[in-house]
Amino acid sequence: MNGLDELGDVKGKTLLVRVDLNSSIEGGKVVGGPRFEVHAETVRELSSKGAKVVLLAHQGRPGKKDFASLKGHAKVFGKSAKRKVKFFDELFSERVLSKIAKMTNGKIFLLENTRFYAEEDLGSPETLMVKQLSGVADAFVLDAFSVAHRPHTSVVGFSGVLPCFAGRALAKEFEALSKLKMPERPVTYCLGGAKMEEVLSLLETSLPGGTVDRVLCSGVAGELFLLAKGVDLGAKKGFLEEKGFTQHLPRFKKLLEEYGEKIVLPEDFAFEDKDGFRVELDLEQVPKVGKPVFDVGSRTIKGFKKIIRDSATVFVKGPAGMYEKPCFEAGTQQLFKAVASCKGFTVVGGGDTGTALKKLGVRASRFGYVSTSGGAMLEFLAGRKLPGLEALND
Ligand code: 3PG
Repeated sequence: MNGLDELGDVKGKTLLVRVDLNSSIEGGKVVGGPRFEVHAETVRELSSKGAKVVLLAHQGRPGKKDFASLKGHAKVFGKSAKRKVKFFDELFSERVLSKIAKMTNGKIFLLENTRFYAEEDLGSPETLMVKQLSGVADAFVLDAFSVAHRPHTSVVGFSGVLPCFAGRALAKEFEALSKLKMPERPVTYCLGGAKMEEVLSLLETSLPGGTVDRVLCSGVAGELFLLAKGVDLGAKKGFLEEKGFTQHLPRFKKLLEEYGEKIVLPEDFAFEDKDGFRVELDLEQVPKVGKPVFDVGSRTIKGFKKIIRDSATVFVKGPAGMYEKPCFEAGTQQLFKAVASCKGFTVVGGGDTGTALKKLGVRASRFGYVSTSGGAMLEFLAGRKLPGLEALND
């Protein structure tokens, strides 16, 4: 892949830069977060060197609640980049093209959500999006590793039409995740959260592939493994059924049967008493309480910490419990801190995990690398080819 150093002098060049500003929207407002920060660095560099930067990005998926215009993103991103970012509510109209053609050096434009246009799904250079925008640009920069698994037009369509380059954020993510694919042993995965499809696809490739030695499971994954083993989790079972998580049980069972010796499960849990205090329970006591548990307990934390300390490589993804509530934050906070103190190479995975770190006051700089990718990172670690990276190689 060619990077920004190969792009050479960017002064006066018009660059289409694909970033990922896909963010949580709370109360109608864009939250921003680690992705905004990493792309802001790339954009600031290009703008300071005199490039005319035209940003392409998406928000949400068609039909979903968070499928929204990027208008609010321009302001939030501008704050991260410490630059003015001008928003256009169009993507490749004559008006936008003529504004781009008249841009002055260092200016930054953000165009409308690429997923508002059916062309985005075609992943083709034969689209108006590519034909019109490439006519006013000198090069395409893919800065978002996190969308590289999507064969979308704004990700792969400019390949072969414009010179294509990897941005700084993409290059850093590629380097760190490549190190995880050829890791120093022993390798420990510390997996929590509620994104079971992601957890399962990672385990179903890394365990048979032999790239992981120990898997510490908390969050919903830990609970599903315990249910698959026949452990009674009392009220939590109904909760997991209601949310549709138990449909994954056969896959968890299969993993346990084949790789059980590598999978480490919680030994105790925490629930909230009637006064809002945290109470911890051994596994056998859990069914007696009549309330669902929402964090791992101290014995589990202690055992997981020891394994983390003795690891040469640690990958942590997802919170151990419902850390948003103070009485359930201990598991996530202590495990994140243990990973941060590990002397080996440590990687924090996924956008949500980065947000949890911030909330719990664990500094991102204490880790080897904090990824801002979700699905793309997992597909990469699972050894799949990512269309965005393939297009850059072409
Ligand atoms: C992400 O949030 O992982 C990326 O923005 C990709 O979003 P998608 O899963 O909706 O394609």
